Amino acid sequence: MDKEIIIETRDLVKDYYDGGNVIHALKAASITIYKGEMVAIMGPSGSGKSTLLYVLGLLHPPTEGQYIFKGNDILKYSREKQAVFRNRELGFVFQSCDLLANSTVFENLELPLIYAESDRHTRRKKILDALNLVGLSHRVDHWANRLSGGERQRAAIARALVNNPSLILGDEPTGQLDQKNTDVVVQQLRTLVGQGYTVVLVTHEDEIGAACDRIIRIRDGAVVSDGWEEAAQRGRDSYVSRDATASP
Ligand SMILES: Nc1ncnc2c1ncn2[C@@H]1O[C@H](COP(=O)(O)OP(=O)(O)O)[C@@H](O)[C@H]1O
Ligand SMILES: [Mg+2]
Repeated sequence: MDKEIIIETRDLVKDYYDGGNVIHALKAASITIYKGEMVAIMGPSGSGKSTLLYVLGLLHPPTEGQYIFKGNDILKYSREKQAVFRNRELGFVFQSCDLLANSTVFENLELPLIYAESDRHTRRKKILDALNLVGLSHRVDHWANRLSGGERQRAAIARALVNNPSLILGDEPTGQLDQKNTDVVVQQLRTLVGQGYTVVLVTHEDEIGAACDRIIRIRDGAVVSDGWEEAAQRGRDSYVSRDATASP
């Protein structure tokens, strides 16, 4: 099966300087993500999961290494060009719901579009399309703080989708949800992947990992498994055949 690489990182290093100490949060992390995959990044607390996700999201510059996104060497971009790229290509969903509470769902979803300079009519259509994808179009004019926890996180997913990004990045996106809402949100993300979106999620919940196509495991800043073998053992055959054609 033909597969398209969306992300390729080579030997990403991230050092944080904390007072006099250097913290080696990422040590030569190399990963590949294919279009249409739902990938979990898992590992113990403090292993560098969030750091890796933030580097992938161009929110933290790495100390060293290479990051190729759809063939573009994006770490070489200027900060301005990276910001445009981030807004156009990436959607973020964080653990704590960061919707503006005293605004409507519509207003929350409109923000990224205003930056993208869409006209008013196009904005409304994009917002309704994104809300439709998460089953929330009936909530478009509700106040964000009146939504249930699960609805709020789905609205956050819709906001991540509204610019039609190539990649959705989530850092423990269900971390503050109960089991029922976690299931709904994971199901929602799977549906999006079924429609061609690519999702990379940081999680420490095994059940969420199991709902993903592949689990990249990191420990102490290093990738210890890219998840292909594990996915094969779980019987995800399509991923085995993909692996057979993976670049070295
Ligand atoms: N801004 C920061 N400044 C200093 N150290 C940091 C910072 N962010 C993370 N760290 C450290 O980097 C390591 C990896 O953190 P993180 O990526 O948040 O791990 P995880 O998400 O797996 O829990 C930890 O030791 C953490 O304390
Ligand atoms: Mg984290």
